[in-house]
Amino acid sequence: MPKKITLKDIQSKFHKEQKVTMTTAYDYTMAKIVDASDIDLILVGDSLGMVVQGQKTTIPVEMEHMIYHVECVSRAAERAHVVADLPFLSYQTSHDDAVKNAGRMLKAGAESVKIEGGEEFADLIWYLHTVGIPVMGHIGIRPQSINTQSGYRIQGKSKVSSDDLFNQAQALEEAGAYAIVLEGVAMEVAKEIAETIKIPAIGIGSGPHCTGQVLVSYDMLGANPNFKPKFVRQYMNLFDEAKDAFNQFVIDVDRGAFPSVKESTHRNLVEVKTGTDSKD
Ligand code: KIV
Repeated sequence: MPKKITLKDIQSKFHKEQKVTMTTAYDYTMAKIVDASDIDLILVGDSLGMVVQGQKTTIPVEMEHMIYHVECVSRAAERAHVVADLPFLSYQTSHDDAVKNAGRMLKAGAESVKIEGGEEFADLIWYLHTVGIPVMGHIGIRPQSINTQSGYRIQGKSKVSSDDLFNQAQALEEAGAYAIVLEGVAMEVAKEIAETIKIPAIGIGSGPHCTGQVLVSYDMLGANPNFKPKFVRQYMNLFDEAKDAFNQFVIDVDRGAFPSVKESTHRNLVEVKTGTDSKD
């Protein structure tokens, strides 16, 4: 059994100035692949709304959906730390709802939860921490708030906005968050935050100075040819490779080349003695 990555390991990587890495997984098989790699954290992100459910945003994602995927992923994660996103309205309504829902994530196999928001959740983060639920913060573009943020716009472009992000990051750290995702934050602001806070600043679309990086797994594998934002690096072209493999299967079946004799099973002939009741 590989050794499970703990939050202490994440902290110690950070103190040794080694970058922390995270990607998403939503099902057992993808989580197995990520777990076999060197990535530190698997995020069961509410991005599953888009990449698994085909929704336009993360807003429709419910606790029940998240729990199902957390269970699938955590069965596979023997090494990587599993973080679960708390979906829209599962923690904003009250501390009680937040504790219940975060607790459900841990019971389903997650080892920590992620919430979107800054200072306004500082008390909640501290409360969750005191009851034994580690929290990762998430500031910058907050997909659960696209209706108030007016879409997916880079954050921290103005002085007011960059000061605000900086204060939010500090408030999250003080509240006991063990790491913070910086999504779509202007690179200079992300750098300042990453150099100031004493916990990992895990960037997505926030430049190279972050002390960790996260990408959605399907994005980095090139699963969707229609989604190629500038901040994503595609490490393979899963869409084309998978499509070619499916087409090759069709060709092989069509020309009778699949299955071969070796890929088939053979009957096991047993000598049948006449006059006895032996069977196959
Ligand atoms: O839901 C998600 O996948 C995320 C990442 C983009 C950080 O929150």
